[in-house]
Amino acid sequence: VTLYVPRDSAARSVGAEAVAKAIAAEAAARGADVTIVRNGSRGMFWLEPLVEVETAAGRVAYGPVAAEDVASLFDDGLLAGDGHHALALGLTEEIPYLKHQERLTFARVGVIDPLDLASLSAWGGLDGLKAALEMDGEAICAAITESGLRGRGGAGFPAGIKWKTVHDQPTGQKYICCNADEGDSGTFADRMIMEGDPFTLIEGMAIAGLAVGADDGYIYIRSEYPDAIATMTAAAALMEQAGWLGENIGGSGKTFRLHVRRGAGAYICGEESSMLESLEGKRGTVRAKPPIPAIHGLFGKPTVVNNVLTLATVPVILAKGAEFYKGFGMGRSRGTKPFQLAGNIKHGGLVEKAFGVTLRQLVEEFGGGTASGRPFRAAQVGGPLGAYIDDSMLDIETDYENLAAAQAMLGHGGIVVFDDSVDMAAMARFAFEFCEIESCGKCTPCRIGAVRGKETVEKIQRGENVGANLELVADLCETMRDGSLCAMGGLTPMPVLSAMRLFPEDFQNTPLMAA
Ligand code: NAI
Ligand code: SF4
Repeated sequence: VTLYVPRDSAARSVGAEAVAKAIAAEAAARGADVTIVRNGSRGMFWLEPLVEVETAAGRVAYGPVAAEDVASLFDDGLLAGDGHHALALGLTEEIPYLKHQERLTFARVGVIDPLDLASLSAWGGLDGLKAALEMDGEAICAAITESGLRGRGGAGFPAGIKWKTVHDQPTGQKYICCNADEGDSGTFADRMIMEGDPFTLIEGMAIAGLAVGADDGYIYIRSEYPDAIATMTAAAALMEQAGWLGENIGGSGKTFRLHVRRGAGAYICGEESSMLESLEGKRGTVRAKPPIPAIHGLFGKPTVVNNVLTLATVPVILAKGAEFYKGFGMGRSRGTKPFQLAGNIKHGGLVEKAFGVTLRQLVEEFGGGTASGRPFRAAQVGGPLGAYIDDSMLDIETDYENLAAAQAMLGHGGIVVFDDSVDMAAMARFAFEFCEIESCGKCTPCRIGAVRGKETVEKIQRGENVGANLELVADLCETMRDGSLCAMGGLTPMPVLSAMRLFPEDFQNTPLMAA
């Protein structure tokens, strides 16, 4: 009997390791023949540790399982996939949270053993790379452009156009850099890919290398992700042993080497030019643009910098065709987007859906509303630099343009939910404080503006000259937005101004005003 117990760090943080050990011990005590596969997470975090058992009808799920539950699970027919136990959830794929998703980038995450390269082809692994090896670089770039894939790190720049820019630079040393410095609050999609399906990401990077003529790739992973670093390193070694990385990949005569690098814990190193500085061994500060990395990137060479999700989506496009991928989505936002539900939400986790799903569907139908059971009040969409939204904005159909039109952004797809106990003035203060802590210090509007902004919101919180100080904050936000060198200082006004615009009462209800 094959059982699955996730090795994903989210599952391990709630006891998956102890559950796997308890299952092995219980099986040994009962003389049962079991194989325990350590898969990635299905992304239903409230059910972790989620144990699955392979049956003729498909995988049957149990969760959230604690080590103490294991004996009773065996008693109640776990190995037969019987559904009598209180933790039984039925067929995994029929759980509505999973059933109603469109998983393209995450198709194999939580399904496969992330380091079992031998079985990967049974799941369609490497099909994209094999297809790319039959194409020239120009055709690969054209397929990515045709698919409509846009940068999933947050900015949404068309990936194919970026690749073509690098492709068109004179032949010579070029690089592929994967940005895995996933720093946005409430996001974990990059981590889930790296821990749950690393081969797909490596495949995407190798395809990018073939497309633009780069034989070297770097993946920059934040130090807070030790499991992802270990899994990516192990996966790269396996790919190399099997001839899919290094020299002569797949017998094609082409070369693509991969280097795993660890960040040192700075949010700003998720900004592409800081990341390049850090990769070069320097302090991670932002470079002035232009020149863009596509022309003058790592070590001054033409460089593709893409997020994990962008690169991990490339294989399915090459394997199934641009038309297939383009068939999902709406408007100029084609394909699917991995949304990450976090904060005060009942069913936190990963939801990959075609663009067009509404925020309400994500928060209420998938997320089940707030974890506290209190009314929804706000959500921050797109990370710590993203805007807050209120209930009236939940019906927005998610695509890059719709969110922008509503003075918000989709960013990396993180959605952090708050109930009616949230104090939005405190959240505005926090946005400035976050910028103060994470600013690289290179430009004045961000370095000093963040500190002055925090102080001014504190004055508002204390009820000092509220009207004048609100104006001052709005003025400061304009300076930061227009005068900052990068998105850190440039976007901090988003959470601040959206909180002030949508929740003005939180900025007025102060002791002095009440008096
Ligand atoms: P950007 O709009 O300046 O650039 C986007 C990408 O397109 C960059 O890689 C840039 O080099 C490239 N590009 C721009 N013009 C080009 C051209 N003509 N040819 C080829 N390539 C070109 O945005 P930026 O500053 O790189 O990113 C800001 C975004 O990052 C924000 O919107 C936010 O959503 C997101 N973000 C994501 C975080 C995460 O953890 N994933 C954290 C913080 C912000
Ligand atoms: Fe550095 Fe902030 Fe300026 Fe960006 S906006 S370059 S993080 S000081």
